[in-house]
Amino acid sequence: MTAGPVIHQAAGFAAAAPPAAAAPPRDETLGLNLAAATRPDFPLLAQTACLGQPLIYLDHAATSQKPRQVLDALRHYYDHDNANVHRGAHQLSARATEAFEAAREKTARFVGSANPREIVFTRNASEAINLVARSWGEAFLRPGDEVLLTVMEHHSNLVPWQLLAARTGCVLRHAGLTDTGELDLDDLRSKLSERTRLVSLVQVSNTLGCLNPVAEVAALAHSAGALVLVDGCQSLPHLSVDVKQLDCDFLVGSSHKLCGPTGMGFLWARESLLDAMPPFLGGGEMIQDVFLEHSSWADLPHKFEAGTPAIGEAIGMGAALDYLQSIGLDRIHSWEQQLTRQLFARLQAIEGLRVLGPTPDQQPDRGALAAFHVEGLHANDIAALLDSSGICIRSGHHCTQPLHRHYGLSGSARASLSFTTTPEEIDRFASELEGTIAFLREHS
Ligand code: ALA
Repeated sequence: MTAGPVIHQAAGFAAAAPPAAAAPPRDETLGLNLAAATRPDFPLLAQTACLGQPLIYLDHAATSQKPRQVLDALRHYYDHDNANVHRGAHQLSARATEAFEAAREKTARFVGSANPREIVFTRNASEAINLVARSWGEAFLRPGDEVLLTVMEHHSNLVPWQLLAARTGCVLRHAGLTDTGELDLDDLRSKLSERTRLVSLVQVSNTLGCLNPVAEVAALAHSAGALVLVDGCQSLPHLSVDVKQLDCDFLVGSSHKLCGPTGMGFLWARESLLDAMPPFLGGGEMIQDVFLEHSSWADLPHKFEAGTPAIGEAIGMGAALDYLQSIGLDRIHSWEQQLTRQLFARLQAIEGLRVLGPTPDQQPDRGALAAFHVEGLHANDIAALLDSSGICIRSGHHCTQPLHRHYGLSGSARASLSFTTTPEEIDRFASELEGTIAFLREHS
């Protein structure tokens, strides 16, 4: 395998030019060791942990690490262009607005949309779902209308609909799981009816890792007259997502899971839907004219963006999307599939350990993570002991309490990977985990 950076380092900033564009993907590097190629871009991952052991970060599903290209873009913005957007006539405001709106165009392109008016910037994916629930839900749902979810949803795709149900009288239904921990499409189909107004589901589960057949769900939902919302938080960083191919109506994503800054997310929605939806939050930026008693709204997408937005964060997210695309989402998916197979092979060899969700044999395109339960042991103890060896994994309910309850668990331990993960890190994690389990069994 060839090693070497796929991504060109950003240029120095002696002149006030934005960071250099990343190198375009090259087909001949499809088999590249992505970890070797990209690790120099991630200074955080080069640090040592306690006792001089290398830090191994396997919590990418909770938040991704940030490449220097993103940090450079943030620095460049604050060093050269910082000003409020869409307001001032001065040059700084013009440059800030240009960079901010360029980030919107990049976000649209990243999800396969040619229309930046369809991208609403939000604080995170949770806010994007709340926006749809508050705006579309309150305007269009009536008592008895149904919203169909799944039992594997993250709390961010459960609680906003619960709040909406309390306000509107709409009814929530939930599709179940198969024995392999995948979406039970037959159950979903049986719960779709003329009362269903929306199907809202995750594309890749943050706990099961399963890849849901969203395009098939969208076709089923549309034939029942329902709309479809896709939570892309765990799919967008790992595989190519195109709203046209999925034929969904809403899609939400989160910058910090995509190598971008925190405090930034987005909603993509069909323009006709956004046009028909009332504003979510009121204030500056989202208005056309304000009178003492009433106001009119700004054009899309600004109608949904009240107040000064997260300008630097949007620009940082744009740089992150450039970075991911310069590597290539297909290449990322292919590398992570290899790593996931290796991870599962090691975990499945451990007695008494049960991984939630489908194995790579059952679902080859499954996500690059493994949430697991070890009989008789607490996930927090496993994570704490691994941390003392410099290995960062997540333990707890991962914001999917109903899913864990479905399995009779209060939580699980989870290792989640990225294109920066090396095969050596997976081996060391698995060996340390074996030692940790043996130690805990001996001392419990
Ligand atoms: N939803 C994120 C996770 O799964 C925070 O860890």
